Amino acid sequence: MAKKVTKIGVLTSGGDSPGMNAAIRAVVRTGLYHGLEVHGIMRGYQGLIEDDISKMEGRSVANIIQRGGTILKTARCKEFYEAPGRKRAYEVLKKRGINGLVIIGGDGSFRGAVKFSQEFDIPCVGIAGTIDKDIHGSDYTIGFDTAVNTAIGAIDKIRDTMDAHDRIFIIEVMGRDAGYIALHSGIATGAENILIPERKTNMNDIILSLQEKERRKKLVNLIVVAEGDEFGGANEVQKVLQENLPKAEIRVAILGHIQRGGSPTGIDRLIASRMGYHAVECLMEGRHNVFVGILNNRMHYIPLEKAVKNKANISEEWMKIVKILAS
Ligand code: F6P
Repeated sequence: MAKKVTKIGVLTSGGDSPGMNAAIRAVVRTGLYHGLEVHGIMRGYQGLIEDDISKMEGRSVANIIQRGGTILKTARCKEFYEAPGRKRAYEVLKKRGINGLVIIGGDGSFRGAVKFSQEFDIPCVGIAGTIDKDIHGSDYTIGFDTAVNTAIGAIDKIRDTMDAHDRIFIIEVMGRDAGYIALHSGIATGAENILIPERKTNMNDIILSLQEKERRKKLVNLIVVAEGDEFGGANEVQKVLQENLPKAEIRVAILGHIQRGGSPTGIDRLIASRMGYHAVECLMEGRHNVFVGILNNRMHYIPLEKAVKNKANISEEWMKIVKILAS
């Protein structure tokens, strides 16, 4: 039988995402509700290895649900990928009597947790937090909705000036090697073309359609490119297009880290609160080494080792919609 969890640690790891604070709040308050001691671990696994940990109270998480970033700070910790780093982390937890961990992060952070939980008797529960939405087993990850809405707001503004000048705009959005931010923000802003790593792009088709538009004296065209696209991002796409459309005015905008910040949307606050609550419930019920995801608006507990990158899951219907609505 699994040992009873009495003292838990919570950390945020990898790239931050809006809504992580709401998740921390939910973990702390649910833990306290169950009579657990809750400890905040600073800078992800790095702070764990360095014993940068402090006890949290209900008030430690007051007034943070609306804030982007993470009050616990975050890091991508190389040391934790190595056995000595994980051993050090275990010793710190043992010394402090922490016997359960909640990890808020993406698939890289979960991979670290899998190794850790195989080596040591510390139950871990993950919460899917990344703007990229690239975790297999969850329809949503914390921060994705905010990132998409931030991209939409920026693209809408660019569209105004694009339209005023009859220009072609190529806008690059984040997502690492996943195209979800590009696909969602591109559809929602009426992009004529959306380039994502999950689908092969026929640049010839794009060039031909732009040349045809040029002949009709219609040159407004919005292209949203995922940073992980095979063409290597917006600058590369611009080069190819400009060579083939020498008269066209083509501009590039790379939205960058603006997509990672800002106040989380209602959806992100809600899923973060639900996931945080369920993560603690998992630890209490002895459902260990899983992460909390959402499928069809219901909570699911998926083994951490299954949290691989979710690349193939792009709907054909959505791709068809992009094509039809752009014509
Ligand atoms: O994983 C989140 C993310 O923002 C990706 O979309 C992006 O590729 C990467 O992190 C950027 O990382 P960094 O903040 O280290 O530059």
